[in-house]
Amino acid sequence: MIRVVATTPFDGQKPGTSGLRKKVQVFQQPHYVENFIQSVFDSLQDFEGETLVIGGDGRYYNREAIQTVIRMAAAAGFGRVMVGRGGILSTPAASCVIRKHEAFGGIILSASHNPGGEHGDFGIKYNIGNGGPAPEHVTEAIFARSREIREYRISDAPDVDLDTPGLTRVEDMVVDVIDPVEDYAELMGALFDFDAIRDLFSSGFTMRFDAMSAVTGPYARAIIEETLGAAPGTVVHGEPLPDFGGHHPDPNLVHAKDLADLLMSDQAPDLGAASDGDGDRNMIIGRGRFVTPSDSLAIIAANAHLAPGYKDGIKGIARSMPTSGAADRVAEKLGITCYETPTGWKFFGNLLDAGLATVCGEESFGTGSNHVREKDGLWAVLMWLNILAVRRQSVADIVAEHWATYGRNYYTRHDYEEVDSAAADALMVDLRRRLDVLPGTVVNGLTIERADDFAYDDPVDGSVTTRQGVRVFFDDGSRIVYRLSGTGTAGATLRVYLEHFEPDPARHDLDPQDALAGLIEIARTLPDIEGRTGRRAPDVIT
Ligand code: G6P
Ligand code: ZN
Repeated sequence: MIRVVATTPFDGQKPGTSGLRKKVQVFQQPHYVENFIQSVFDSLQDFEGETLVIGGDGRYYNREAIQTVIRMAAAAGFGRVMVGRGGILSTPAASCVIRKHEAFGGIILSASHNPGGEHGDFGIKYNIGNGGPAPEHVTEAIFARSREIREYRISDAPDVDLDTPGLTRVEDMVVDVIDPVEDYAELMGALFDFDAIRDLFSSGFTMRFDAMSAVTGPYARAIIEETLGAAPGTVVHGEPLPDFGGHHPDPNLVHAKDLADLLMSDQAPDLGAASDGDGDRNMIIGRGRFVTPSDSLAIIAANAHLAPGYKDGIKGIARSMPTSGAADRVAEKLGITCYETPTGWKFFGNLLDAGLATVCGEESFGTGSNHVREKDGLWAVLMWLNILAVRRQSVADIVAEHWATYGRNYYTRHDYEEVDSAAADALMVDLRRRLDVLPGTVVNGLTIERADDFAYDDPVDGSVTTRQGVRVFFDDGSRIVYRLSGTGTAGATLRVYLEHFEPDPARHDLDPQDALAGLIEIARTLPDIEGRTGRRAPDVIT
């Protein structure tokens, strides 16, 4: 039976770029999930009888929230829900399932790389029929609806058995519990040369994939170990745990330090890789060589034609503005455009839909292509495996050869975390105020050539996005970017991105912190970071 339940609005049900993210306790309040889901459904039209895809990253509260979404989807009139077995679907797999089955949309339960568990974070995100995150006009409508909601509709049917694949019913709606890996694995098999990768592993190639006790474990085991023949045990932390084993499931040199240490040791396998909570981020490390996400994008773009799914070449590249210009050099050589977008995967959607870009990436450990509409961690790892299987060189050699061909974009990001918000805002305001007078200024021997606040004109829909980060360009081609993080939870996080282009192969083996030392000093003093924030040094350097 479908019940209509009276409710009152909650404050702050405003979905960000990556959906609504809050502490688990917030979501556990009576009616909280229901209000938000009803606000989503109330903001959509013409979905009667259509299919909704549901799945999450397995974090604490995943199953409870999924049962609620299923009951409400039935009450709202969806014809079918496809839900991953155990409530599991990685974010890219959800995108894949939505596209393949031409679903109306999907609900993804995840807070990405944020810590999980009873005291961690939870999240709900709505994706549209192209498999990508809902655009802003949809998320705004959801928020507006959440502020005036008075009732929601829900079936009182018992819980669905999420662990048994197959069909059941809730009210008139079909519930299809699907294998969370199958469709995604099939898509990967169509894009990459699995035979060549199998040969690579059978010739003794070794790898460690750290799933960080998050959602990619089942995907990596099925594809890398079972299908591609990597030795059992290649995938570590492969069981999705509600609290991610107490770890921070974010693949970077800080949170995946064990993996990074292993790759720098005598016991290093040929390749190390990791993914985040919901499977959309990736980190790639070769034996003795960390590959920055910016370099990884450039190398993938330069070698994509080695993978069957991209054998006809790529149409364009897209990168977020703070991502290094390494990809631009590849685009130039290929005679294609490299689009520069604001930070946030959603800005790639239009370029991918319009066929202007084929591969895209961000410095924040995100890489992907037009195969889905989310960034895709495992895709990046399989792309690297495909490249390694064809070229039969080490990761370090491939990187060195890339730099020798295109030059090296030395790159680093310095993060100042939990800075006083007012101080961080004032720092940005002051930089913006000085944009006109900075050009021509000489600092530490370098002359500022131009400075601006990045704005993006979307070439597809003509929309303009302003104030996306202050860029300072120097006459030797170096660049400093200042922007405030859009994802922090406490205070403000100031991110400073530094880049210097080095054409000379004899100077390609420096530590980036050394190669960029002069620029780092300028970056500290130009906006007086210490005076304004009290911080002498960044909290995190990547
Ligand atoms: C999320 C988005 C990414 C984006 C990143 C930036 O992970 O999915 O597309 O690059 O946030 O985070 P920031 O903290 O720098 O705003
Ligand atoms: Zn993520």
